[in-house]
Amino acid sequence: MRRRYVDISSVLLCFFLIDYVSSQLSPAQNSTMSRLYGLVTSNTSSNPNEWTHVEFAQNPCSWSGVSCSVDNTSVIRLKFAKFGLSDVEILSVPCQLDSLESLDFSNNHFGGIPNEFIDVCGKISGLKTLNFSRNRLVQLPVFKGFLGLEFLDFSFNEINGTFGSQLNDLAGLKGLNLGDNKLSGLLPASLENFSQLKELQLGGNEFQGSIPGEIANCRNLTLIDLGGNRLSGLIPERFGELLELESLILSVNNLSGEIPKSLLKITTLSRFSAHQNNFVGEIPVGMTKHLKILDLSFNKLNGSIPVDLLSPSNLETVDLSDNGMVGSIPADISPRLFRLRLGNNYLSGTIPTSFGKLSNLTYLELENNMLTGQIPPELGLCHSLALLNFGYNNLSGTLQEQLGKLTNLQVLYLQFNNLSGIIPDRISELYSLQRLNLSRNAFSGQIPSSISSLKNLTNLYLQGNQLSGAIPDTIGGLSNLIELQLGNNQLGGVIKSLPKSLQIALNLSKNNFEGDIPKVLSTLGLLEVLDLSNNKFSGKIPEFLVNLGTLTHLLLSNNQLSGVIPMFGTHVTVDTNGNKGLIRSTTPSLPVSKGKRKVSAGVVIATAASVLVVAIIVFVALYIFRKYYRVNNVHSSLGEDIPQPQVVQRKLLTENGIHRSNIEFNSAMNAVANPSNIMVKTRFSTYYKAVMPSGKKYFVKKLNWSDKIFQMGSHEKFGEELKVLGKLNNSNVMSPLAYVLATDNAYLFYEFAENGTLFDFLYNNSDNELEWSSRYSIALGVAQGLAFLHGYTSGPILLLDLSSKSIMLKSSKEPQLGDIELFKVIDPAKSTGSLSTIAGSVGYIPPEYAYTMRVTMAANVYSFGVILLELLSGKPAVSQGMELAKWALSKSSQQDKLDQILDFRLSRTSPAIKSQMLSILKVALTCVSVSPDARPKMKSVLRMLLTAR
Ligand SMILES: *[C@@H]1O[C@H](CO)[C@@H](O)[C@H](O)[C@H]1NC(C)=O
Ligand SMILES: *[C@@H]1O[C@H](CO)[C@@H](O)[C@H](O)[C@H]1NC(C)=O
Ligand SMILES: *[C@@H]1O[C@H](CO)[C@@H](O)[C@H](O)[C@H]1NC(C)=O
Ligand SMILES: *[C@@H]1O[C@H](CO)[C@@H](O)[C@H](O)[C@H]1NC(C)=O
Ligand SMILES: *[C@@H]1O[C@H](CO)[C@@H](O)[C@H](O)[C@H]1NC(C)=O
Repeated sequence: MRRRYVDISSVLLCFFLIDYVSSQLSPAQNSTMSRLYGLVTSNTSSNPNEWTHVEFAQNPCSWSGVSCSVDNTSVIRLKFAKFGLSDVEILSVPCQLDSLESLDFSNNHFGGIPNEFIDVCGKISGLKTLNFSRNRLVQLPVFKGFLGLEFLDFSFNEINGTFGSQLNDLAGLKGLNLGDNKLSGLLPASLENFSQLKELQLGGNEFQGSIPGEIANCRNLTLIDLGGNRLSGLIPERFGELLELESLILSVNNLSGEIPKSLLKITTLSRFSAHQNNFVGEIPVGMTKHLKILDLSFNKLNGSIPVDLLSPSNLETVDLSDNGMVGSIPADISPRLFRLRLGNNYLSGTIPTSFGKLSNLTYLELENNMLTGQIPPELGLCHSLALLNFGYNNLSGTLQEQLGKLTNLQVLYLQFNNLSGIIPDRISELYSLQRLNLSRNAFSGQIPSSISSLKNLTNLYLQGNQLSGAIPDTIGGLSNLIELQLGNNQLGGVIKSLPKSLQIALNLSKNNFEGDIPKVLSTLGLLEVLDLSNNKFSGKIPEFLVNLGTLTHLLLSNNQLSGVIPMFGTHVTVDTNGNKGLIRSTTPSLPVSKGKRKVSAGVVIATAASVLVVAIIVFVALYIFRKYYRVNNVHSSLGEDIPQPQVVQRKLLTENGIHRSNIEFNSAMNAVANPSNIMVKTRFSTYYKAVMPSGKKYFVKKLNWSDKIFQMGSHEKFGEELKVLGKLNNSNVMSPLAYVLATDNAYLFYEFAENGTLFDFLYNNSDNELEWSSRYSIALGVAQGLAFLHGYTSGPILLLDLSSKSIMLKSSKEPQLGDIELFKVIDPAKSTGSLSTIAGSVGYIPPEYAYTMRVTMAANVYSFGVILLELLSGKPAVSQGMELAKWALSKSSQQDKLDQILDFRLSRTSPAIKSQMLSILKVALTCVSVSPDARPKMKSVLRMLLTAR
């Protein structure tokens, strides 16, 4: 680094003359810019930034990030955002430009601010803005000078300690952002010194104690964000004096008391968020008079909803879910209303018909109240509706006009009501529907065959009704359906067709099905849970059920089945109780020849022994096959020769000489043409083993261009993205070593992971149970990798499909995160298609995804929490149709049941291990918090894991 700087500065002299020609800057400013150029370009040699492309000879005013005065005679603003800088020597150089007004060092790697910076920069009285957001600062410096400073941004660092008098000199401050650090202790009362302050952002720290009322002395405040701390006590009455306040954010603290009426005096307030605290009492009348957004969810508020609460015409979002509200829902509703959440209260009465006018209403959640009457038909006019949740109420009547033409509706939850009548044919008009829950009502008649028009449907719950007749043959056309619950109805007849996509569960229990177990079940190659119990199925248990490779639970109890029970793998739980004619076999069932011949005892024993040996060999072979070659049986058994892909472009990304000399593209392309090299299949990709001529093995991962997810990615763009990812250097992240782009596929090369996926290691590996120390290192490694990706300098890298199937094990202690390339290529914000099909695997998708349709850092933290729970409990993310996260959360409400979540095989080994597992369980449970805001950042997760020893 140093050497390169020297080289460059010697070159500088040659440019000096040219400099004068093109620059109108003073010689002093020119030479400062030259010095900066040298420092900046040499500091970032490993990670090229904007200035590596700058032509030094040009006028510095034209360099990227540099802004000059109108006449180009002085530098006014410098912006080094995302320059990859870490050398603190750079920091004070810009301050030799006495004309400087704004200095932006955000998104770099600075670990500290030297005293020299404070001395030199403090003298520029014209400096108004200083931005160190998203660096690695650990300490808040004591500011001296900086008389003109107006905006100070130190957010997203790791600043710890208390916040006292460090900024007292900055009397002219208008905007202070210290959000998302690790500041602790009390909030300083001395904030009142900042009489000009407009924006105060201290959210996402560890502040405790009460909120000082003196903050209200800063009369000009427009924004106060104290969310995500550990504050307690009341909201100061005096906040009502802040007559210019626009946003007040106090969410996720431990505040209590009532919502002060004084806030109503603030006519400018448009956002008030105070969810997840301990507020009590009634919501003041007039609360929303001026508001756009009100969020008071997850508190202990009670009383009825004031009649005027929903009516003000500016109002867009109201969230009062999870409180103790009683009474009815006011009928006077703002036409602008976009989101209304009143779930988990004690509301009664009917749903007002006035909802019908609301053309902006997109999310309506009234679940788990005591609402009665019918669903107003007028709701069918709310054509923006994407989510409607009326589950767990006491609604009655039928569904007809109510459905209207809600073509944007994605989620419809009506379960646990008293709705009756038929399921109307019109349901087919809800084209966007992804989840439909009509379970536990009194619907009767047949399942309409038009239901097959719902091409986006992924989950269909009709259990617990009085549906009769046969399952329509068209149902096989629901090509995205992953769960079908039809239990507890009066269905019967012949089942001819079922969606091959079914994965989580198919439940036909408690119906009137009879005759042989239908052959069509053999097509469900992804299914995990099959429940046929409590019907009148008869005949033998067919062998094809044994071949459903992904099955974990098979429930056949209380039928009329007969014959010998076939031998299922050890990973399948089979329940056959209550079938009188079934015979349990100790040895595997073989086709027995009909004509019984007399044979000597010796022959019988010999045959039995050899059968046993063959069976063991077959079993072991199958087992190994399952473990390493998790193949879609249909494809591999065809064994057809797939032609070599048509290569468009190929490139080595790694600088590592060993890989560069080993990777041989042609042998890799031969390897992917042979299905027997398939090692792992995940939702988005297939991993092949490719043995190079040198004998070294690599993973070659195939991504399909034809997949929806690549629609917006061109070959060039993809290549660019991969180059960036190839530079990621973290031992817990699988970064691509090379790639081949073919006409309709992309192939990425990775280091080979001998131990396969974490999923296989945990659940398909009975002979090698993963001990706790391994599981702990895996948890740490995955957390490290994810924290690295989330903190990546040029913006966080989010994973679309984080699951135990996307984690590869180099050894039983070294995990690597796979499938990292997907998010960067796909921008979900731009995608129009149904996102739920691409955003992760079932069991790892956070609850808010249904509403937000966005993958976020908090969503990744949730998926990570599920992986932690898998490591702790030894249970897969979904079993018996139940998501592990939900199961663990329900257990965790009782402290004495916590250890029931843990994998007993490990927790019993020692009290020390059990206690460590329990502390990590706490981390896992916060990661899977229902509210995304309540989930910690990966950085803190990692810290918590490290300290949980
Ligand atoms: C100032 O410099 C910029 C960038 O080089 C240039 O576009 C602009 O025309 C210059 N203005 C004057 C007044 O020279
Ligand atoms: C500081 O930089 C960050 C990111 O580059 C930006 O989002 C933020 O608005 C900036 N802060 C100020 C006060 O300009
Ligand atoms: C929250 O505040 C209450 C008093 O209002 C106190 O009893 C409780 O311990 C606090 N909880 C936490 C986590 O600080
Ligand atoms: C539900 O409403 C019906 C009347 O429609 C009433 O008879 C019943 O008691 C209600 N059930 C509950 C649990 O409130
Ligand atoms: C559908 O309703 C049933 C209750 O009948 C409930 O157990 C299930 O969790 C619901 N499914 C979803 C996705 O909400």
